[in-house]
Amino acid sequence: MIVREMCLDDLEMIVKIEEELYKVPWHKEQYEYELKNNEFSYLFVLENDGVIVGYYGFWLMFDDVDITKVSIRKEFQGFKLSNILMEDCLKRVKMLGCKKVNLEVRKDNFRAINLYKKYGFKEVYVRKNYYGNNEDGIVFSKEVL
Ligand SMILES: CC(C)(COP(=O)(O)OP(=O)(O)OC[C@H]1O[C@@H](n2cnc3c(N)ncnc32)[C@H](O)[C@@H]1OP(=O)(O)O)[C@@H](O)C(=O)NCCC(=O)NCCS
Repeated sequence: MIVREMCLDDLEMIVKIEEELYKVPWHKEQYEYELKNNEFSYLFVLENDGVIVGYYGFWLMFDDVDITKVSIRKEFQGFKLSNILMEDCLKRVKMLGCKKVNLEVRKDNFRAINLYKKYGFKEVYVRKNYYGNNEDGIVFSKEVL
């Protein structure tokens, strides 16, 4: 398993995985923008023998990081591969001099919430009806030491 920077050639596969995993997926254009034009955006893939099994991303804004994605392909979920993503992410943001990492998660996404809590993220506040359909978003945060 390796973690490497996402590139434009990955996008066909990334968009397929994205549509499988998210109710409101990022489209190819959004990823192209993030890779080509957004200087604050960082995106990485987790690859096993040339196959993308997951990816993650964040926006770095001054001292703060907002995690934009933490994704493991459906057939590879449940094997704790997201630990590799979280550990890589926390290592990188520390190297970049970030002081605080934030993220937002749907209230019913128990798997993701368990993952973030395990890595020391604390619930900061709830954004009522953030996703529409009465679905709240929870903002989690972690200080990076
Ligand atoms: C969230 C996600 C990245 C987790 O990846 P994963 O590698 O399958 O996760 P894990 O197998 O390590 O499980 C994560 C934790 O949730 C727990 N968990 C697993 N299944 C669960 C379930 N059905 N309900 C509650 N908790 C569960 C696990 O026990 C684990 O905690 P532990 O290590 O303390 O045992 C993955 O499910 C995913 O890509 N989901 C879709 C995209 C998404 O929602 N991303 C987060 C956006 S904020």
